[in-house]
Amino acid sequence: MSRIIAVINPKEGVGKTTTALNLAQAFALGGQGALLLDLDYGDGVSRHLGVARPRSGLLVRILSGEEDPAAIGLLVRSVVAGLDVVPCDVAAQGADIGNLAANRLRDALYVLRFQYPWCVIDCPSALDEWTRAAVAVADTVVVPVEAELFARESTSQILEFIQDIQGGDQEKKVTRILMTRYKDQNSLSADVKRDLAFEYPGLFSQTVVPRDVRVRESQEDGKPLLQYSLESRAGRAYVQFAKEVMTYDRA
Ligand SMILES: Nc1ncnc2c1ncn2[C@@H]1O[C@H](COP(=O)(O)OP(=O)(O)O)[C@@H](O)[C@H]1O
Ligand SMILES: [Mg+2]
Repeated sequence: MSRIIAVINPKEGVGKTTTALNLAQAFALGGQGALLLDLDYGDGVSRHLGVARPRSGLLVRILSGEEDPAAIGLLVRSVVAGLDVVPCDVAAQGADIGNLAANRLRDALYVLRFQYPWCVIDCPSALDEWTRAAVAVADTVVVPVEAELFARESTSQILEFIQDIQGGDQEKKVTRILMTRYKDQNSLSADVKRDLAFEYPGLFSQTVVPRDVRVRESQEDGKPLLQYSLESRAGRAYVQFAKEVMTYDRA
């Protein structure tokens, strides 16, 4: 596995799951196999794809250290060519995975490293130990942000969370803020985008994902957006963003 990407934001509905799904599919379409790891016990990629979530509790036991990390292979499901998913477990909601979950997750993904050049982790809408584990193992952290009031405050809280996990690591993670569900004709959106770009110039992604009804339509159809409509505006933005992510090197 060359790169692990965590998609995080404690706010519900900002486009984490949509971003994780479409980023992974853009890699797959580009001929680079991708694994989607669903840690979003709320409304994650497996639900969007219509992949049944297991009830065995295996994922929780792997992360809490009760099961061999290699068992993660049993959870892999194929979605479309080049794209596989490890669905979140029904038992994950409210489960305490403890503070060693990052080490277990690292071991589990190590087992799968040769099969996938990319792993994209969809995180829950919380800065909890699930998101903490995902950030700890990630090379790149993507923060989808909607242009709305308080976006600046919440973004700075998220960046502190990432910094706290990263600590004094020599090898810094690449962090990028991705504007999502962006309304072109809206002056508040433009103001928020300008403020964030001004405040975090080095962290601001070049891609902006526009608001696009095709996103919801594709979910209702149980397909990744890029399979449903490759030429949609949001679809093109995610392909663009995948290309951008491919250029990131560890800073
Ligand atoms: N670019 C977009 N344009 C329009 N709707 C979007 C877009 N991205 C996400 N959505 C919609 O917003 C809702 C929340 O998106 P989701 O990815 O599930 O957010 P999160 O995982 O952060 O809770 C979904 O109903 C989805 O269809
Ligand atoms: Mg989600």
